[in-house]
Amino acid sequence: MNSPVMQGLNLDVPAYVKNARLIAWVSDMVALCKPEQVHWCDGSQDEYDRFCQQLVDAGTFRKLDPAKRPGSYLAWSDPSDVARVEDRTYICSQRQEDAGPTNNWTDPAAMRTTLQPLFDGCMRGRTMYVVPFSMGPLGSPIAHIGIELSDSPYVAVNMRIMTRMGRAVYDVLGVEGEFVPCVHTVGAPLERGQKDVAWPCNTTKYIVHYPETREIWSYGSGYGGNALLGKKCFALRIASTMGRDEGWLAEHMLILGVTTPAGKKYHVAAAFPSACGKTNFAMLIPPKGFEGWQVTTIGDDIAWIKPGADGKLYAINPEAGYFGVAPGTNSLTNPNCMASLDKNVIFTNVALTDDGDVWWEGMGEAPAHCTDWQGRDWTPEIGKQTGAKAAHPNARFTVAAINNPVLDAAWDDPRGVPIDAFIFGGRRSTTVPLVTEARDWVEGVYMAATMGSETTAAAAGQQGVVRRDPFAMLPFTGYNMSDYFRHWLALGKRLQNSGAHLPHIYTTNWFRKGADGKFVWPGYGENMRVLKWMIDRMEGKAQGAEHVFGLSPTYEELNWEGLDFSRDQFDTVTRIDHAAWQQELQLHEELFQQLAYRLPQELRDTKAKIAERLGA
Ligand code: GTP
Ligand code: SPV
Ligand code: MN
Repeated sequence: MNSPVMQGLNLDVPAYVKNARLIAWVSDMVALCKPEQVHWCDGSQDEYDRFCQQLVDAGTFRKLDPAKRPGSYLAWSDPSDVARVEDRTYICSQRQEDAGPTNNWTDPAAMRTTLQPLFDGCMRGRTMYVVPFSMGPLGSPIAHIGIELSDSPYVAVNMRIMTRMGRAVYDVLGVEGEFVPCVHTVGAPLERGQKDVAWPCNTTKYIVHYPETREIWSYGSGYGGNALLGKKCFALRIASTMGRDEGWLAEHMLILGVTTPAGKKYHVAAAFPSACGKTNFAMLIPPKGFEGWQVTTIGDDIAWIKPGADGKLYAINPEAGYFGVAPGTNSLTNPNCMASLDKNVIFTNVALTDDGDVWWEGMGEAPAHCTDWQGRDWTPEIGKQTGAKAAHPNARFTVAAINNPVLDAAWDDPRGVPIDAFIFGGRRSTTVPLVTEARDWVEGVYMAATMGSETTAAAAGQQGVVRRDPFAMLPFTGYNMSDYFRHWLALGKRLQNSGAHLPHIYTTNWFRKGADGKFVWPGYGENMRVLKWMIDRMEGKAQGAEHVFGLSPTYEELNWEGLDFSRDQFDTVTRIDHAAWQQELQLHEELFQQLAYRLPQELRDTKAKIAERLGA
């Protein structure tokens, strides 16, 4: 009797599930993980409400005050399980060179041998939730289906917000449809009679991808991208390899629509590293001086982009909700985001106020007393004395896209929206100017490839150190980074040869600091001033000024109405310090040495040209 729990365990496959491969796989996974029962999620409101109540009963959720935050809950994770674990994330391709030097690689057979004993019996005493989801509008030619098996009801409710989750997925999947199998366990089996903890997880963690067989196996964490497998694991790591093979792009990008006072609409996709302003930019409210302009959100984190028959690039947001950074969000910097959080939200790792609401650093005036994300008393005085934060810096909210007051009318359009410009933006206190336009596609790919950014709390590990983060995809490219660069270059060439007008490419930096250590650029809604300059460029209304590695606006080219920003301040955020750039090029060189194998020659040539201009 090697699987007592299997004995007599009825899979209870609902009649509407007809996919033979799916049923066989669930059956195999039940035999391996040995859950106490299997629940096939239908995605209904009723099911969601029941799961939430169950999470309240288990102590994982607190129901927030129904008048202040209707339909909303707060979860506090285990203090050791608060962010993505990049050093525990693996790309297990057959050949190491296909994972490349920026990914952790292990031979897939060896990894399966490692995982086997960990997954054996990992769901004992728990329920296995079968979570069917579509990344992208159901049935869209750009969309793909995944099935996540998880022993976490927290994951099930989050997946219902973050994806199109539920019964309708099986209609699209049919008898023979393809899906990406995703197995997730918190890695905390319960022995008979053992009491559960509020946030089960394991100190051992594995986030594993098999790109060739398109499988995801996640062990030991219940948090964010480690556990909501539709997001980074599927929609970026696995999807990027699908894109490489099939000629499309899966990117860490927000997608926004911007409408001019003349009624012309543009679509922009922007890649900023984790916790560097995508959600904020995607919900931007044009400031004073921009009457008649409107920004609308298609997506805030991930874009799937495919070339259309007309030679344009069409983008969809594969997600259906936002898993956004709470700290720093407030009604001055991002009123649309705050409005999205009025109701039906799952908060994770923010503070609980005494009146049953939430608070985080940067939300506004601190309450006299609250309970911090670890369940301890917190007062501003305690914060000052001990440095303890009321909310964890990577505290997040999970909310449906339909809560967003500026949701774009086309956000759910299965055809996607045509992209007019790409933006790549890092977080740099120095060196990189506010905005630069690439003179051509190759120069743009170079800018994106060599982008650096200071690390944030979105990933476990040291914060605030500059690392190269190509395309804001360093932790998310599911294959060799040099091949990824080639893919971007090849796509540009292909579109160009078909006579298409390529999107403009820009690089931005909202984060330059002054001598006082404070951000000089006001950011948030004021980023509209930069966005308008980009559109002026596309409409041929702004010339820009050329410099060593691109083209930036002059002071006169930005609309300053409603903002007091001096020429001196502008100089601080745009100046190009040649000595600093000599050093920066050194860092590009280090990256290129790391990626030397299969690095496209065009990028080396571009670097040589910049070095020559710098030297001149
Ligand atoms: P992920 O969900 O991790 O991929 O992050 P994201 O890129 O969506 O980041 P988000 O928009 O949630 O912003 C993260 C942090 O950056 C928050 O603390 C914001 O307050 C801050 N932030 C966003 N935009 C700006 C800006 O224009 N200027 C400055 N200084 N900070 C910003
Ligand atoms: C990021 O880290 O870029 C996120 C949050 O968007 S997570 O879903 O945890 O990856
Ligand atoms: Mn992200």
